[in-house]
Amino acid sequence: MKENSFEIEKFNSWAKNYNRQVRESDEENKYPFAAYENIQNRIKEYVLSRRGKNILDIGIGTGTLAKLLYDKGCNITGIDFSKEMLEKTKTLIPTANLINWDFTYGLPEGIKNNKFDIIICNYAIHHLKDNLQKLLLEEAFNILKEEGTIIIADIITETKKEMEVARTKDINIWDDDEYYLIYDNIKSWFINKKISFEKYSYCSGILFMTKK
Ligand SMILES: C[S@@+](CC[C@H](N)C(=O)[O-])C[C@H]1O[C@@H](n2cnc3c(N)ncnc32)[C@H](O)[C@@H]1O
Repeated sequence: MKENSFEIEKFNSWAKNYNRQVRESDEENKYPFAAYENIQNRIKEYVLSRRGKNILDIGIGTGTLAKLLYDKGCNITGIDFSKEMLEKTKTLIPTANLINWDFTYGLPEGIKNNKFDIIICNYAIHHLKDNLQKLLLEEAFNILKEEGTIIIADIITETKKEMEVARTKDINIWDDDEYYLIYDNIKSWFINKKISFEKYSYCSGILFMTKK
């Protein structure tokens, strides 16, 4: 596997201050993490309303969302290419199956025989270009149980126009090197799947994707 070392280093350095910066951005209701806590609570509520508790968290980061689910009896597998991020998660959830892996290359072989009830990707898929996002989601569907759900929470808007409005509002801090999701595009990628969108702020929301 070719190493994406510059990006990995960026996240390794961010791990120490990550939770504080997310909280500050959320408290100001500002891009990029506007409504982050509400989004976490919605995901927790959704997961706990489902029967299956075998969870995959792609780009698990410092593990704050996974910890909420773990405390309610969920079995957690997490993927992240930053060892420092994974160290943080490990202190919160010592029993989690944590895999140091770069999802630019799809999902790791070691989990491809597993089947998950819920696959979460919280503020991480935007690090991939559109074509790789689609491939990752296709792989995620392959390891999702028939009744399972893929949950993508991120900087997402329903339309391209709404994303442009958000970008204009925050033009001074907007990161043009990230690839944010548009609900309309995702629906056109997976016309045979059931996909819904919940908006949480002017720039963020949650996609729920099921096989039928
Ligand atoms: C913005 S953080 C989100 C972390 C966590 N999911 C959360 O909600 O707080 C993005 C995470 O994705 C990880 N990440 C970014 N690109 C990745 C890649 N190509 N492969 C694996 N992990 C990646 C980063 O290391 C970081 O932990």
